Amino acid sequence: MRLQDKVAIVTGGGGGIGRATALRFASEGAKVVVSDIHSESGEESVDQITKMGGEAIFVRTDTSIEGDMKALVEECEKRYGGLDIFFNNAGVSNEEVKLVDISVDEWDRVVSINLKGVFMGMKYAIPAMEKRSGGAIVNTSSLLGFKGKKYMAPYNASKGGVITLTKNAALEYGGKNIRVNAVCPGVIDTNIVTPWKEDDRKWPIISKANALRRVGQPEEIANAVLFLVSDEASYVTGTSLLVDGGGLTF
Ligand SMILES: NC(=O)c1ccc[n+]([C@@H]2O[C@H](COP(=O)([O-])OP(=O)(O)OC[C@H]3O[C@@H](n4cnc5c(N)ncnc54)[C@H](O)[C@@H]3O)[C@@H](O)[C@H]2O)c1
Repeated sequence: MRLQDKVAIVTGGGGGIGRATALRFASEGAKVVVSDIHSESGEESVDQITKMGGEAIFVRTDTSIEGDMKALVEECEKRYGGLDIFFNNAGVSNEEVKLVDISVDEWDRVVSINLKGVFMGMKYAIPAMEKRSGGAIVNTSSLLGFKGKKYMAPYNASKGGVITLTKNAALEYGGKNIRVNAVCPGVIDTNIVTPWKEDDRKWPIISKANALRRVGQPEEIANAVLFLVSDEASYVTGTSLLVDGGGLTF
């Protein structure tokens, strides 16, 4: 078991990539704190982990609220005695309109969850990891952190920000034995892409816009995140790993 005796937090753990990763961590022996803004889906992830013989709890968290992120890490330390792994994964898409038509409220909503939330996750996770003399953080960016896509300015900007923020954190805390990396999924079959799937014109194009000519599955991201948090990635920090079926080559 690659994560035996480790304690992990997964934000957005009730959703596609978060749930798949929470289950993967648990299957490798980690105790998992599943966090999500939606209690029902978060509790369902915990149920699935418990049924497969793993150990998990649910903590409801809105990652855009500082008090929630502080309380999440505190609850993890209280229940499991510390924190080793943080998958900073919760994220949302934006209303797809031209840049000048994006309301400032919509900009703030998306950037608060996707970028400020990732910052606040690290702000509270890192001190907890320092108490354990090390740890591993993975922030969820996106293929769209590397390239533009029409009508997705707040999302693209937030995911680009996550890539740079990841480098900063890696640089500042490498000396404390805390590794910080980003995972950058391509098009993965989860709820976040439902609006694209429902568009009969767009989906046949978007779903094959990569070298492998197919969408990815959440488990394929979970495998990459598992590698990044495991000891097998002991010399990997500050990197942004594309898991996009070759989407950036396209
Ligand atoms: N699916 C893709 O194609 C794709 C591609 C690139 C990046 N991503 C990123 O992967 C991450 C996970 O998304 P997913 O594909 O699993 O989608 P998803 O919608 O299935 O999961 C997202 C989860 O985050 C939760 N969430 C949303 N806002 C939250 C908040 N404020 N606080 C706490 N939890 C919140 C949702 O309830 C949901 O469970 C996101 O950061 C997303 O941007 C996804």
